[in-house]
Amino acid sequence: MIQAVRGTKDILPTDIGAWQALEATFRRIAGQFGFQELRTPVFEHTELFSRGIGETTDIVGKEMYTFLDQGQTSLTLRPEATASIVRAVIENTLVEKNPLLRLWYMGAMFRQERPQKGRLRQFHQFDAEILGSAQPEADAESLLLAYTILRAIGLTAFELRLNSLGNTESRLRYREALQAYFRPHISGMSADSQHRLEKNPLRILDSKHPEDADAVKGAPLLTEYLDDASQRYFESVQKILVALEIPYIADARLVRGLDYYCHTTFEFVTTRLGSQNAIGGGGRYDGLFEQFGGKPTPGIGFAFGIERLLLLLEEEQKTPTSDTQCDLYVIALDDESSPLGMKLAQALRLRGLTVITDALRRSFKAQMRDADRTKARFVAIIGEKERLSQSAIIKNMATGEQHEMALEDTGTLYQVISGTEKTHIDIR
Ligand code: HAM
Repeated sequence: MIQAVRGTKDILPTDIGAWQALEATFRRIAGQFGFQELRTPVFEHTELFSRGIGETTDIVGKEMYTFLDQGQTSLTLRPEATASIVRAVIENTLVEKNPLLRLWYMGAMFRQERPQKGRLRQFHQFDAEILGSAQPEADAESLLLAYTILRAIGLTAFELRLNSLGNTESRLRYREALQAYFRPHISGMSADSQHRLEKNPLRILDSKHPEDADAVKGAPLLTEYLDDASQRYFESVQKILVALEIPYIADARLVRGLDYYCHTTFEFVTTRLGSQNAIGGGGRYDGLFEQFGGKPTPGIGFAFGIERLLLLLEEEQKTPTSDTQCDLYVIALDDESSPLGMKLAQALRLRGLTVITDALRRSFKAQMRDADRTKARFVAIIGEKERLSQSAIIKNMATGEQHEMALEDTGTLYQVISGTEKTHIDIR
């Protein structure tokens, strides 16, 4: 038996209702904020991610699905969406056409991490980006959109953790301070951290190695190195969040796993999912466009992990369901009646009803059982007698009431089954 690859999951028909409900909410609310959908390819040139996310990050260093295609081009299955969106915006000159872009994206991402609850190798993100604004209103709007979505899907067991990485100058000063702080400790620290000390000391703060914990705990905080402009920017963002009544916790130790961030960074975390506690995260990335050869364009955005949202909804016992309602189940009592049954089903589908027919030539009893399983509201029965008189017995499954009705009068059939006297919706 060939099985699914470890860390990948089938989304079964029994689970799909919850996915569709979340997807509908993302779509609806992003639309209400004026965001438009943009879809990018599943794979990109490897360089896009290594340059964008950063060579010394775990994602680029350890987790990417990278392969050479037949033409020896190095390609990578996208581990996240932001780099691809920025590439697509530059390539299609979208900012030139509209100086403030609001874009969203939903799809599968790939990271070769050790699978565990809430951590997959193929997972799905909902991602939203605002491109073109270097004003705090964009940061606040991004956070408001994320917060509105989380509340709309019914989640309450989460916190918003907020930090600022400041501008480039602030980060450079902080980088030097970190190097000076870690240098005396580094010989006792992990090989990863030793490797990162010169290249990217900020990444040491994100170390999961136990031998690094003590040194990391005492490290200086970035907030102490923010210059006035960065400090003022962060305050402006917070002021709007307070006005919008978005609760947050300022967390000077918040470190994100991607290098493209500056100024505002954030994560939505929960205590209910064990170690995979981030249900979403994001931040500002004002330098990314230049890094990809685009003209300077500020950006801010976030992504939710859809599997983690679903796990948390399950924890909160709020998993959305969407049972497809079967209006009518058509039962043919013999093989000759079956085309007539299929014709009736199709006539009513074209008027907008959900109609199921049997395709197994089952017995009457077995078809009735299947009608119960599909929770059909009505059943139509066509046997030899009905076939000869071009009629069907229509049974209301809730009341047990039944009538013989003419097949050609689909208008009346539709009204009885849909329970409406209104004019029908004709989808032809
Ligand atoms: P990220 O923090 O790497 O950010 O991922 C966002 C979310 O994706 C995480 O909070 C988590 O819920 C989910 N996630 C990440 N890895 C996995 C995994 N292996 N299994 C299941 N879920 C996972 C980004 O990806 C940025 N592109 C977000 C962003 C958008 N920043 C600016 N704009």
